[in-house]
Amino acid sequence: MKKRKGIILAGGSATRLYPLTLAISKQIMPVYDKPMIYYPLSVLMEADIRETLIISTPRDIEIFKQLLGNGSKFGMHFEYKVQEKPKGLADAFIVGADFIGNDNVAMILGDNMFYGNNLCKILKRANEREDEATIFGYYVKDPTAYGVVEIDKDGNAISIEEKPNNPKSHYAVPGLYFYTNDVVDIAKNIQPSKRGEIEITSVNAEYMKKGKLKVEKLGRAMTWFDTGTHDSLLETASFVQTIEKRQGMQICCPEETAFRKGWISTEELYSSAQKCIKTEYGKFLNDLAENKV
Ligand code: DAU
Repeated sequence: MKKRKGIILAGGSATRLYPLTLAISKQIMPVYDKPMIYYPLSVLMEADIRETLIISTPRDIEIFKQLLGNGSKFGMHFEYKVQEKPKGLADAFIVGADFIGNDNVAMILGDNMFYGNNLCKILKRANEREDEATIFGYYVKDPTAYGVVEIDKDGNAISIEEKPNNPKSHYAVPGLYFYTNDVVDIAKNIQPSKRGEIEITSVNAEYMKKGKLKVEKLGRAMTWFDTGTHDSLLETASFVQTIEKRQGMQICCPEETAFRKGWISTEELYSSAQKCIKTEYGKFLNDLAENKV
């Protein structure tokens, strides 16, 4: 199978979270018991992506390096790149062009969280599609704040629009995208939209024109949050707290995924556990290392 690399886009100015984000990155903020970026990171890991580029602002990139390092504690390889200005989501493929090289790529937004039963299967399908792009469709009552996709019975996109006033469907497009290597060239040729950004929806429209845009529906039992406002940040944190307390297990825990996939050893997991052993997070990792979960 053709290799696929990952990008986590964790820049932007997050003005909708002011004053929280006046001095610090949104994607490092706590979502209950772990930094926000752990959630999208664990999704890429579930998709078997081990080489990942983290893109953030000149102000914030260092903090991600401190948090995540070279990736070895998760059995991964991380690289870092600065996006000088928030020019749009598609800019990630221009900033990341050298990193992507000749490989396929998946991008996830650093403030998107996914959780649900069939996620691994759906990610696997998207990953195995080597010559077409895959986006996802999530049914919401009011999709006007998102990219909106119309889907035919074979799972092909037939229309896609960014934040339409009169949406053609109820399917919002979450911030997770699987692309072929030509996304770099596509991104380079996109013209800025009215809001002055090179839009990811324009990238998707380009794939659609070529008949190469597949849409995987995320069913109603799947949870998708984007944590861009005070309310959604708190609601996501409450959701994580509710499930974790009930089950005594972690949601989107990168060390757990790394361990279950055999990317880190029991000793490495144990060492991560000891660093945060005063918390339920650390105790969970410890139980995992001792085969008690
Ligand atoms: O959350 C999914 C939605 O994300 C999609 O449905 C839309 O199609 C897509 O355009 C995007 O919409 P938003 O308006 O929510 O995007 P926003 O400008 O808020 O940026 C999303 C995240 O990406 C945010 O955490 C900041 C980061 N970002 C954004 C831009 C424009 C960057 O790191 N660099 C950028 O240049």
